[in-house]
Amino acid sequence: MSLPPIIQPASPRSQDPLPQPAPEAQAHSQLLCEKIVSTIHQSGGWIPFPQYMEMALYAPALGYYSGGARKFGSAGDFVTAPEMTPLFGQTLARSIAPILANTAPIVTEAGAGTGKLAGDLLQALEALGQLPERYNILELSAELAERQRAHLQAAVPHLMSRIHWLNALPVRLSGVVVGNEVLDAMPVELIRWQRGAAQEVQRLGVALESVEGGVRFVTIASPSGTPPELSERVGALANKYDWPDDYTTEIPEAGPAWITTLAQRLTQGALLLIDYGFPRHEFYHHERTGGTLMCHYRHRAHPDPYYWPGLQDITTHVDFTSIAEAGFDAGCEVAGYCTQAGWLMDAGLLDLLSASQPADPTQADGQWVRTQHAVQTLLSPAEMGEFFKVILLTKGLPADLRIPGFLRSDRSHTL
Ligand SMILES: C[S@@+](CC[C@H](N)C(=O)[O-])C[C@H]1O[C@@H](n2cnc3c(N)ncnc32)[C@H](O)[C@@H]1O
Repeated sequence: MSLPPIIQPASPRSQDPLPQPAPEAQAHSQLLCEKIVSTIHQSGGWIPFPQYMEMALYAPALGYYSGGARKFGSAGDFVTAPEMTPLFGQTLARSIAPILANTAPIVTEAGAGTGKLAGDLLQALEALGQLPERYNILELSAELAERQRAHLQAAVPHLMSRIHWLNALPVRLSGVVVGNEVLDAMPVELIRWQRGAAQEVQRLGVALESVEGGVRFVTIASPSGTPPELSERVGALANKYDWPDDYTTEIPEAGPAWITTLAQRLTQGALLLIDYGFPRHEFYHHERTGGTLMCHYRHRAHPDPYYWPGLQDITTHVDFTSIAEAGFDAGCEVAGYCTQAGWLMDAGLLDLLSASQPADPTQADGQWVRTQHAVQTLLSPAEMGEFFKVILLTKGLPADLRIPGFLRSDRSHTL
């Protein structure tokens, strides 16, 4: 069947238009769009939003994370904490070193990006005398795995024999599993709730709309209605959090399901996850009427998930209550939950910053200025400090184990 041309949406930021991709990037996106269009046709004209998000991010060779898009750093679409300063990985090492001393000496990192965190963590754990015997990297993207290998070969050549790439979660896990900004990249259900409407809870998904010259993607409700369990779940949230008459949000399913699997497979050790998000009562706050779905293209955030699919990141905030519940129900203890700033300060980021200061501050170079700036970004409540949270789920660790990062920090964020 020949497909009609797929018309890309105009820049979602009309005041400050997004840059246009280069012709070869546009061609790459068109290939992915054709695949999505075929899937929509084969599914009777509509696919659930999580299926669209999964394809846009992870379709083999074409999705944003599985294709060749630049993604990280100043030439990419976003910058993550490990890319800003090695002090982030060094601080994380302080949190996980005592755990490694009390469980199997294995670190498993999910979604390792450029490999920067892996290199920084390994170097810092080596300096702390807690070098893991194995550092597993669980990576869905072959392209990123290659980039990680090249970075780690240059950064920690003497530790390469300890680093292993995995395509799937091991059946049994022990040691420490870490993931920075992994949960926010997992597909979510998109729903709309309208008080008193014939179909009060709409499960949203993606269909095609004819426009001049071709078709484009649109978000519409499932033509076959909403599964009763999803309706009940959303109705309960609407009542509990007193949503106004028209409310669109996300229901995370892949993230909590992933945590359930990790927690079930963890025989002893910890899961430590860092991401942007809130506890449930903030996630579903009645004023958050449009949900948290956000896209990133060349360092600009915007809300259109159909802008050049495969070339932009699509993310949502994390409902940390669902993560805590999934871990708890699968046998883990919620051993810590706090803001990124609270965790970093408690684990000694500022001591590490002082130690990295040049002996003569008047001779301070650009690197030192960049380090200070990065630390400020990581800690500032107006930037990543409050917005990002850290959750620690443990199993079978000594009850009196003191884990830096979670000793004194603010625990007022009830889950
Ligand atoms: C925003 S990037 C963060 C990368 C890196 N951790 C960092 O901080 O720079 C999200 C990463 O999560 C990965 N990811 C998403 N779902 C995953 C899963 N189920 N297992 C492993 N990695 C996953 C993606 O492939 C991607 O590399």
